[in-house]
Amino acid sequence: MRETWVVGAASNRFGKMKESGREAATRVSMQAIRQSGLEPKDIGYTFVANCFGVAEHQAHVGPLINNGLGIPDVPSVTVESACSSSSAALHEAFVQVAGGFVDAALVVGAERLSHLDTLAATSYFAIAADYPFETHNGATFPGLYATLASAYRQKYPTRDEMFGAVAVKNHANAARNPHAHFQKEISMETYLASPVIASPLRLYDCCPFSDGAAAVVVAAKEFVKSPVAEPLVIRASARSGSVTDMQDRPDLLGLPATRTAAAKAFRQAKMEPKDIDFLEVHDCFTTAEVMALEDLGFFPKGTAAREEFEGTTARDGKLPVNASGGLKAKGHPVSATGASQVVEIFEQVNGLAKGREVPKTGTALAHNVGATGGSCSVHIFTRR
Ligand SMILES: CC(C)(COP(=O)(O)OP(=O)(O)OC[C@H]1O[C@@H](n2cnc3c(N)ncnc32)[C@H](O)[C@@H]1OP(=O)(O)O)[C@@H](O)C(=O)NCCC(=O)NCCS
Repeated sequence: MRETWVVGAASNRFGKMKESGREAATRVSMQAIRQSGLEPKDIGYTFVANCFGVAEHQAHVGPLINNGLGIPDVPSVTVESACSSSSAALHEAFVQVAGGFVDAALVVGAERLSHLDTLAATSYFAIAADYPFETHNGATFPGLYATLASAYRQKYPTRDEMFGAVAVKNHANAARNPHAHFQKEISMETYLASPVIASPLRLYDCCPFSDGAAAVVVAAKEFVKSPVAEPLVIRASARSGSVTDMQDRPDLLGLPATRTAAAKAFRQAKMEPKDIDFLEVHDCFTTAEVMALEDLGFFPKGTAAREEFEGTTARDGKLPVNASGGLKAKGHPVSATGASQVVEIFEQVNGLAKGREVPKTGTALAHNVGATGGSCSVHIFTRR
């Protein structure tokens, strides 16, 4: 396999987009390509993530993005893996580049759903669960994650404030991130006073519905003669899956796909959790961040909530988690989320994360989950 780098990464501001998903995707792709020092003609393949294009009456956006970039003859494909779509697209790009099929590839994720109300958006999202068994019976993602949260809290006694600490931290980080949907801090009092959405999850435990677009350019080391930005070396690109339905899982205390993807990734990178300086994890709900840190192997089961509360995962803590604000506060435009985690890591490494810098940027991990864990990607990056 060839050593493969992330050489460019760009995101727009998450929240509400005036332009379409396709227009935003083209714009951030151009920014990421420019930043890489490459040209559109250097791209050998475009991997697109756009789960809910149908909500904009537009499928098959890859060729349209490539047309916009002036490279209509370049092949493209849309990768769908629910909320982990753009990290799945990154994995496919890595395989193509590391395997020598193309020298450089574009990964771009975009979503626009803000023209829908909460009920309609919730219904669209819910089709990523098991339709006949879960969705058809009224399950929604807040409901499904509340089931996981209830099981966790029953087994491991935790106080509301421990999850509140995740929300307060991620909002504080997002307040310093110009790409973030919510750029305002919240207090623990605000968290505790917020309404229950699906017990035990409150409003501030939940990620919002966001529009957004993010792009990443991946290239072979030997193809990039002189990188204009500090590249991220992809040391591991691992994916895993697991049983989707709650009723068929051996336990509800975490996500098996995270555990297996993490094990693969650490094996590929020849690293252990203690080697990672900072990470972006899939915190669609605050409880998901806590469970992810345990499933990824950073903390023993049942202990991560306390670590969050004690500040271990703060931006200036021992293990900074979601310095971007995470899905919780940076926002979660489903198909852009995985790519945007890489944008954050790229910006941290390149000194572009002004005002939200983490202390050490030698190694980083990105963790992105599809739905309630039917799929999962874990990527590990280092400096050259
Ligand atoms: C939590 C949720 C139900 C709130 O929806 P809602 O009650 O319809 O809220 P609205 O869109 O009417 O917004 C009301 C206010 O709350 C804010 N808000 C909405 N969701 C928020 C969130 N998750 N966190 C913080 N604030 C939020 C809005 O910005 C708005 O603020 P404003 O009055 O200052 O403008 C919705 O955001 C949700 O379902 N989130 C989860 C999305 C999801 O499941 N994603 C997939 C994960 S796997």
